[in-house]
Amino acid sequence: MATILPSVNDVRVEALQNFTEEFGENANICVCAPGRVNLIGEHTDYNDGFVLPMALPMVTVIAGKANQSSICKIVSLSDAVGTRNLVEFDISNRRALKPGEPKWANYVKGCVAKFSYDGLVPGFNAVILSTVPVGAGLSSSAALEVATYTFLEAMTGFVSERLEDKALVCQSVEHQFAGVPCGIMDQFISVMGKEGHALLLDCRDLATKQIPMEHLDDNLFLIINSNAPHKLSSSAYCERRDSCFEAAKLLNKKSLRDATLEDLEVLKTRHCPQITIKRARHVITEIQRTLEATAALESGNLLKFGTLMNESHDSLREDYEVSSQELDTLVSAAREVDGVVGSRLTGAGFGGCTVTLLRKDAVETAIKHIKKTYKGNATFYIAKPTNGARQLEIK
Ligand code: GLA
Repeated sequence: MATILPSVNDVRVEALQNFTEEFGENANICVCAPGRVNLIGEHTDYNDGFVLPMALPMVTVIAGKANQSSICKIVSLSDAVGTRNLVEFDISNRRALKPGEPKWANYVKGCVAKFSYDGLVPGFNAVILSTVPVGAGLSSSAALEVATYTFLEAMTGFVSERLEDKALVCQSVEHQFAGVPCGIMDQFISVMGKEGHALLLDCRDLATKQIPMEHLDDNLFLIINSNAPHKLSSSAYCERRDSCFEAAKLLNKKSLRDATLEDLEVLKTRHCPQITIKRARHVITEIQRTLEATAALESGNLLKFGTLMNESHDSLREDYEVSSQELDTLVSAAREVDGVVGSRLTGAGFGGCTVTLLRKDAVETAIKHIKKTYKGNATFYIAKPTNGARQLEIK
């Protein structure tokens, strides 16, 4: 059986109750921001390409209240940020805040430091509770950043005019307060997710298109968490990114978005290392696959969508080399099941999750087969596209 997630409402109620227990009064603000699964378009965002993620019912909820001081007191109770943990920091000079320990608090500190509002941000008490698994490639950090930013908007009444600006500030928090030079996908989908839709994002000009999932009919997306920790993912991510930039530079192009398959031949004549050519080949083909997959989803050609998912995984494994033995096992086991349309790793790779498109009536057989084949302890979630960050009721 797939894991049944607590509803957003359950998490909301629990966060509000915990706030009352921790601080002896009721919270007057409650917000949430979702994690995401990327359907296709992997390692394309920092190459100005296209991505196709959707927001998940896994959320980070923050319940809180301004506290008439310049101190933030934050209790985290969630998976997303470790076990119960209290952190306190002074924000009287918030622009000068620096990352430190504990690490999870850096996402909150970073958002407070970079919140795009010139007025006074009061100190506050808050409880954080999350159902987004950490280190699973489902964007628990983006969910925490976007939830914090949404909380600050609710508390100050200063709401970003353009949703892209909010996502961009949250991305800069990840860069400067977590030291991860990520692309823009995770923060964008956590801000802009829409129920029943995937989001096609053009990472060059930030244009978006909501893609309805109505053609899924009797099919669904199943997320499988390998529960295998990310290994070396941060340094390997940076290496991949640098290779892409190097390839674009050798081609005198701004980014690999502007490159074509013919350019791979050009790279060969410019003494480009073979490994860099492989990285570029993944990116160039993945950008193309993402556009084709979006068209397939829009027209209800799920077979084509599944084939592109398979090709995406194979390219991530062979050319980009970000898969792992665990992810490959999950993907090939899924593909053995009748009714599975396509399967691939999702997120940065090196561990974390896969995403599989399959017929609804094949879900139980698929889970059984994968459990039998996979040595580790996998968890299974049915992925329903949900809304992005929002304020929740406090009653
Ligand atoms: C991580 C990053 C994203 C993106 C993916 C790979 O999730 O945060 O920006 O680069 O990896 O597609």
